[in-house]
Amino acid sequence: MHVPTLIEKKRDGGELDAEEIGEIVSSFTRGDLPDYQMSAMAMAVFFRGMTDAETAALTRAMLDSGDVLTWPEDSPPKVDKHSTGGIGDKVSLVLAPLLACDELWVPMISGRGLGITGGTLDKLEAIPGFNVNLSQPEALAQLERIGVAMMGQTARICPADKKLYALRDVSGTVPSQPLIVASIMSKKLAESLDALVLDVKFGSGAFMKTRKEAAELAERMREVGLAMGVRTAARLNPMNEPLGRTVGNALEVLESIQTLQGQGPDDLVNLTLDLASEVSTVSRDTLAGWLSGGRAWEKFVRLVEAQGGDAGALEHFDRVHPAPIVREIAAPGSGAIDRLDAGSIGRASLELGAGRGRAEDSVDHSVGFSRLAKVGNRIERGETVGVVHARTEAAADQAEAAFLGALRIG
Ligand code: URA
Repeated sequence: MHVPTLIEKKRDGGELDAEEIGEIVSSFTRGDLPDYQMSAMAMAVFFRGMTDAETAALTRAMLDSGDVLTWPEDSPPKVDKHSTGGIGDKVSLVLAPLLACDELWVPMISGRGLGITGGTLDKLEAIPGFNVNLSQPEALAQLERIGVAMMGQTARICPADKKLYALRDVSGTVPSQPLIVASIMSKKLAESLDALVLDVKFGSGAFMKTRKEAAELAERMREVGLAMGVRTAARLNPMNEPLGRTVGNALEVLESIQTLQGQGPDDLVNLTLDLASEVSTVSRDTLAGWLSGGRAWEKFVRLVEAQGGDAGALEHFDRVHPAPIVREIAAPGSGAIDRLDAGSIGRASLELGAGRGRAEDSVDHSVGFSRLAKVGNRIERGETVGVVHARTEAAADQAEAAFLGALRIG
């Protein structure tokens, strides 16, 4: 394989065959193909795109770069959900235990937050003791016991994606549709699923800004999933205001607990039920009953215990990560809320310390926003439209200003 020739072929709009793509990915994973050539290839893909056959071959090659989870012959159907990322999106924490009530197995591999979007692993780690690093035998034993495991990507699952994602992150090649499709789908296919539902977001707080871009991404991911034998559904969901009423790690866990105890905000409950019913064997009404009746909550408590978390802490979670500064924000006027821009709230939350700038940074579990007003609500001047949780007064000042900039009252 002469790599410069392959880079030139892609640069000039040619189509690579499955063998060429397989060779590129395997020699990159082994460390034989240097980062500078892989960056050049990623940039060529960014500008030239990939055909469906190339995207499928790339997904397959990334999947084959590591281990895939294997399941016993007679185990229940394996299902999962993937979201392309949003602000205040804590659906996974509610949906995974809910689906496990349906005698399905939910081997959920999640990521950490990067940029303005939060990550499920960071949220779970706000629960004292919760261990997201499960080996494959540990995950299997847990699935056999309770039907759900929530964990991070190990070094052995899709190592090509881990390496390529880090390179894309610093070479301006993250927002490339075929690279996103292969990255997301290779990780999900490594779970050896029977069914997958994709929550593809669009709007100011999402990766894809327009519905059209999100629809294209959703369709490509769905096609790859189906081609690999996984029943794959995709739903498009707006991400123009934060989901639910909280943004920030511990604050989102608290809201998830309330939702699992039947007290969730409508948008979070509805989205969770819409997504869960795509891969469940029971009706949306049955799922809604399990959520409001406490069955999913019981499963969540068992999940936390199984992964070493302090289940007792869930009962008083509002006191587990208190932020030094908790400040109510008063509405500057009266009327209906027209806008609470998700992208701006995500950035403000990141600056408070809830997210990271670089992959190796740590997150502050205590900070973020709570009691967020929802678009369409009527509000009187001086009423609380949100609460900032911050480390310092200066950080709270900055977050409050950003919040008021994100808010429009009609
Ligand atoms: N999430 C991923 O895992 N990969 C991407 O490329 C984008 C979002």
